[in-house]
Amino acid sequence: MLLTISNLSQHYGSARALDGVGFSVDKDSCTAVLGRNGAGKTTLLQTLMGLMPATGGRIELDGADITTAPPHRRARGGLGYVPQGREIFSDLSVGQNIEIVLRNHRVSEPDALRDEIVTLFPVLGEMWHRRGGDLSGGQQQQLAIGRALASRPKMLILDEPTEGIQPSIVQAIEDAIRDLKGRMAILLVEQYYDFARSVADAYVVLDRGRVVKSGKGADMERDGVADLLTV
Ligand SMILES: Nc1ncnc2c1ncn2[C@@H]1O[C@H](COP(=O)(O)OP(=O)(O)O)[C@@H](O)[C@H]1O
Ligand SMILES: [Mg+2]
Repeated sequence: MLLTISNLSQHYGSARALDGVGFSVDKDSCTAVLGRNGAGKTTLLQTLMGLMPATGGRIELDGADITTAPPHRRARGGLGYVPQGREIFSDLSVGQNIEIVLRNHRVSEPDALRDEIVTLFPVLGEMWHRRGGDLSGGQQQQLAIGRALASRPKMLILDEPTEGIQPSIVQAIEDAIRDLKGRMAILLVEQYYDFARSVADAYVVLDRGRVVKSGKGADMERDGVADLLTV
């Protein structure tokens, strides 16, 4: 297993946001994390990235215990995170947003990786010298994904990457995720059941901070996952 999360808990003050969450992600496989608004999906990813210390449980990445590791060590260990609401550097150019990560992570063959990212999202090449802040929301999301890829992650972690994005770009982002699938592990928080079902090798459904169902992507229909997501 590339990632193993066991018995993970998280609190906001006295409110419990994650309660004994556990699942594993195989190398190069795609896992969808589903659940209604407020289920704990973003909290799970933030805890996984070390942006909030876990209040209990254990996280193992590639056999190493990273439960208390700082965020930059998790990034170095292979976690590439695209937060909900795409946090790019608005005052830097598109190119600088990506170059910073290529340099910080000292990836091997940065030129080849830069080419791969621009091939995946041609708009980033076209807008290379423009300020990140001048991009549309959908283009900024593509930049946020491109930037995460610039660390050559073992696992790409995406928090609702198509939320609030114009339909033409939703398609480009879904195509990119399909393209990346199999070349790295993907942990995808997604509100669109159909897309999740079409790409996921495995799924996990959260409700009130607990895993209420999990299984193979191919069994989502049979397992009645859609019914767990309707309000
Ligand atoms: N900063 C915060 N302070 C207090 N409660 C929070 C905070 N962020 C999220 N929550 C609460 O934690 C629960 C899980 O939220 P979140 O992880 O954002 O869910 P999801 O991403 O599945 O919509 C919700 O009840 C939410 O209201
Ligand atoms: Mg969320």
